[in-house]
Amino acid sequence: MSFFEYINGELYAEQTSLSSIATEHGTPCYVYSRAAIETQWKSLNEAFGDHPHTICYAVKANSNIAVLNILARLGSGFDIVSEGELRRVLKAGGDPNKVVFSGVAKSKNELAFALQNNVRSINIESVAELERVQEVAASLNTTASIAFRVNPNVDPETHPYISTGMDKAKFGVTMEAAFEAYKRADLLPNIEVHGIACHIGSQITKTSPFSDALEIVLSMVKRLATQGIEIKQLDLGGGLGIDYQGEVPPSADDYVQSMIQGIKAHGIDLPIAIEPGRYIAGNSGVMLTQIEFLKHNTSKNFAIVDAGMNDLLRPALYQAFHNIKPIKEKPTEEAKVFDVVGPVCESACVLGYDRTLAVKPGDLLAVLSAGAYSFVMANNYNSRNRPPEIMVDGTQAHVIRKRESFEQLIAGETQLPE
Ligand code: LLP
Repeated sequence: MSFFEYINGELYAEQTSLSSIATEHGTPCYVYSRAAIETQWKSLNEAFGDHPHTICYAVKANSNIAVLNILARLGSGFDIVSEGELRRVLKAGGDPNKVVFSGVAKSKNELAFALQNNVRSINIESVAELERVQEVAASLNTTASIAFRVNPNVDPETHPYISTGMDKAKFGVTMEAAFEAYKRADLLPNIEVHGIACHIGSQITKTSPFSDALEIVLSMVKRLATQGIEIKQLDLGGGLGIDYQGEVPPSADDYVQSMIQGIKAHGIDLPIAIEPGRYIAGNSGVMLTQIEFLKHNTSKNFAIVDAGMNDLLRPALYQAFHNIKPIKEKPTEEAKVFDVVGPVCESACVLGYDRTLAVKPGDLLAVLSAGAYSFVMANNYNSRNRPPEIMVDGTQAHVIRKRESFEQLIAGETQLPE
């Protein structure tokens, strides 16, 4: 079910027309649907039934505090990768005891902040980091609840830039090193082993890579038990893919059930945490953009729009496909094939190649699937202000982040003295 549908030829977010949002707030502009975010989160939550679980939304996917607050109100946990993300979660009313802290290079200050706020688990990604966590926990006279993020060397069959669970990735501790690392952790006075974590990649569209990784994680859980090291939570990461271009990823039910069946088959009945980001936010948002000009070269038609790679980086960075739809449906016989390109002075500033569109200057377009890894990756290249973010809730459109101003753009910059 999509919360972005045409009603009488006009594209809506829930019961709010996107053209009314563009008129009021200008373009480019991000628009999210509260109902979409909640529906996605609830689909995972319900799929677990009465199996003990925590859904730790991956804050990096969309970290606007309104998004985090909506999820916190549902009782969500959070997966964070920086002090900034933890501060956002706290500001949004999230429960730190449902927070897992991932990342390969957590600084001492970040670790201290996380420990002072009693996060549920520091997901440690190297033996060197274990020693750092011990040192910081000791200096605070506290105990750190930890998991190792293990790297099961499973191919998630996704884009190489978002594939994280293979040997060549910088992420996690190899299976060979993990056993010794747990034994070491067990000896450290300010470390309490809580769980085991694993995240193999993102935009995964099959269950088999998840199941393969789970098998490897479970074999480690059993091996640790022989040493008297008890795992209390399985954190199986994020990665569930979404439909950008006709992909058919597993449903929430299939994904969750395959985990539950997988652990039960081993006679293991542990609480499960997952870290979904894209699945919750990805298809819960669109980016609105307006056509400035049409341009025709000998071999190409260009629809030049007011949003660029600084606003939505994914096509330029990953050759990612985002569907692009006109906000007002038009007869397709007027359509031509366009490259939809933005204003940034880079050839890579393209939002979509070879799109069949019936459009003229001034028309509004919606770039779909822009709720995750979209605004969060926006930047100020070419001194472009970042767009506003709007949250639709039924017939209401709330500004949840204002358009950046020139003053904000240069805040923090100073000239040299005379
Ligand atoms: N947990 C960890 C430890 C992660 O590194 C990630 C994503 C997630 C959870 C959430 O994964 P998800 O459920 O969203 O697939 N910028 C890229 C995606 C990078 C993902 C990084 N890690 C993109 O635009 O496709």
